[in-house]
Amino acid sequence: MVSWDDGGLALTFGERTMCFPAVWLRDNCPCPACRDPGSGQKLKDITEIPNGLAVAAAEDTGASVVVTYTPDRHRSTFSRSWLADHALDTDGDGGGDTAGRTEDDKELWLPADLDDLPQGSWPRYLAEPADRARVLDSVLRWGFVLLRNVPAEAGMVLEVAASFGFVRETNYGRLFDVRVEPRPGNLAFTSRRILPHTDNPYRDPVPTVQLLHCLRAADDGGRTSLTDGFAAACQLRATDRETFQIIAGTPVPFGYTDDSTELRASQPLIQLSPRGQVRGIRFNNRSARPLRLPYAEVTAFYAAYRRWAELLARPERQLNLRLGPGDCLIFDNTRILHGRTAFGGTAGRHLQGCYADLDGLASTLAVLRRKLETS
Ligand code: OGA
Ligand code: ZN
Ligand code: ZN
Repeated sequence: MVSWDDGGLALTFGERTMCFPAVWLRDNCPCPACRDPGSGQKLKDITEIPNGLAVAAAEDTGASVVVTYTPDRHRSTFSRSWLADHALDTDGDGGGDTAGRTEDDKELWLPADLDDLPQGSWPRYLAEPADRARVLDSVLRWGFVLLRNVPAEAGMVLEVAASFGFVRETNYGRLFDVRVEPRPGNLAFTSRRILPHTDNPYRDPVPTVQLLHCLRAADDGGRTSLTDGFAAACQLRATDRETFQIIAGTPVPFGYTDDSTELRASQPLIQLSPRGQVRGIRFNNRSARPLRLPYAEVTAFYAAYRRWAELLARPERQLNLRLGPGDCLIFDNTRILHGRTAFGGTAGRHLQGCYADLDGLASTLAVLRRKLETS
């Protein structure tokens, strides 16, 4: 059943009534005068929609609904299924438009909740599109996946990144070696413990996917930890809203300097969407620069920062792994914190890492799913 008034259209399917404003319908008109049939892109600018547009008439033909507008008598034909798939949000949280990037679209975890580790095997990942989809989905859903049996050869990490996206080159190169260096420009290139952190907080935009591929493990230590920063942020919000608000509302300056690089970025440690959902974590005290806020704010920030750091560091939040040769972690660098224990021994621990981005990974997954559905 279809009805309309000056404002828009109401369509009832069984129990469900969906309402669409006239201007929204017109902006989404699929006719060839409004939308390029080849690319599907809109041909009209928003200012070309007549002012004072209203629905003059609507007709339900079963599979579709034909809308006629006033004042210009333009007509749009929408399939019912398209309207149902694009129904407006009725609970007001804007949850339909987060593009998969906020807490709403994630499975938040503590290690104790993970019955099975999200993991895959490189040969199978390459051979089976459905397995590839499952592995990539793990990165979006759980924030990480452990891909095993990636040949422990230099440069393979770039092939893993290229299998789902584009390598994000940085000042560390297309890939970087994580091993003890004689004159390290970053603590990663020593044998020290590295506390849980996100990488490159001094970049804006930050690389959103990180890969770490183990070529050689230390014979003593060098264990990896992963922490779900979104789960921790949600707990902070639930238990200590004042601290959460300080953390989410205070931009923190980060920097990185060496002979050829001078990077600066300033963002809060918890980044929220415009609707207040948790959308990003930056956490890296090694790279934080001096805060220059007013005295009282700095004092309040440090108290909040300590509480946030303590919550993140709780042992029950750390998933501990020992990467062996051939193991490649792929993780969301805007959500998952990674760290390692100090290491020793004579084996010469060696990882290679690189960066990529979540949007490309999500696109690869969506196209894979399209093909899987039609095959
Ligand atoms: C890094 C890093 C962890 C490790 O290179 O970004 O945090 O396990 N390395 O060496
Ligand atoms: Zn049209
Ligand atoms: Zn790191």
